Formats: sequence, C-alpha cells, structure tokens
Amino acid sequence: MHIVASKNCVRYDSRVMTPTMYIASDHGGLELKSNIATILSTTIDVVDLGTADTSSVDYPDFADRLCKKVLETPNGIGILICGTGIGISIRANRHVGIRAALVTSDFMAEMAKAHNNANVLCLGGRTTSTEEAIAYIKRWLSTSFEGGRHQLRLDKLDRPT
Ligand code: RB5
Repeated sequence: MHIVASKNCVRYDSRVMTPTMYIASDHGGLELKSNIATILSTTIDVVDLGTADTSSVDYPDFADRLCKKVLETPNGIGILICGTGIGISIRANRHVGIRAALVTSDFMAEMAKAHNNANVLCLGGRTTSTEEAIAYIKRWLSTSFEGGRHQLRLDKLDRPT
C-alpha cells in the first residue's frame, strides 16, 4: 500500500486523504485502542477521546463523545472499541449521520466503505488482535465508496422508521 504523509493527513492511495481520526473505547477496548492509537499516530493525526484507564465505564458515553466529534468535523471519521464492538456500535448508530460498522474481517472492512460509506469503524477489544485491527483500518481507509445505488440506500438510513 502506498502511504504518503502530509500535514494532518495521510494518503493511502492516489485519491484518499485521511483527516483527523477520532478514537474512543470503554475499558473492554482500552488495550486495543492504545495499540491502534500508537500505530496510527505515526502517520495520521489521532485524537484519543478516552477512556483513559481500566476502571469500568459505560460504552454509550464514549460512543456519544466520539460521534459528536465525527459529526462536527467535515468528513469526520472515527474508531470505537468495546469488548465485542457490539454495544458501542449499537449506540453509535443511534446518531443521525453516523454509519458505524462493526468489522471482523478484511472483506467487511472493505464493504463498510464500498457499500456503506461507514464513517465510524467499530472493533472488539476482546475479539480482534492489534494486527487484525490495523489491517481492517487500512482496508477501510484505502477503499472508495461506490456511490450509485448504494447512495440511494444510505439516503434511507436516517429516515424515521
Ligand atoms: C463491558 O464489560 C462489555 O459489556 C462491553 O465492553 C461491550 O462488549 C458491550 O457490548
């Protein structure tokens, strides 16, 4: 993968510039969050929104904190981690404008962007290794949204049920 760093951005291919990456977790995702933040911050601007230690916390609080930042940032993107990635993804998707994808394979990471244009990637700190997580993140960032019929479907996501 061709990676070129510039001020606060990284180019994963010839088209994609990555803005600031927000990242947050509960205690179940703390270790994976720290590992990911350390690795990503060598090439992109990473803002860690907590949690900061192993004390038990409630994952909806961290989903809310990150989603607000993503929504107020043009082309904002973020990574959320809890023990399984399930609870934090459920909460994130209650924010209109957030498309949070829980990813457990390279293929899901690619589809999360290609078909869903996910602006938040969710991971399980107790289910996903650091190496796997970095591979998913790179796949997500280096894939382009396909638009077309997929945009028509995204337009329906934030409609009232
Ligand atoms: C916390 O123990 C755990 O429930 C949480 O991290 C997450 O896995 C919930 O979906």
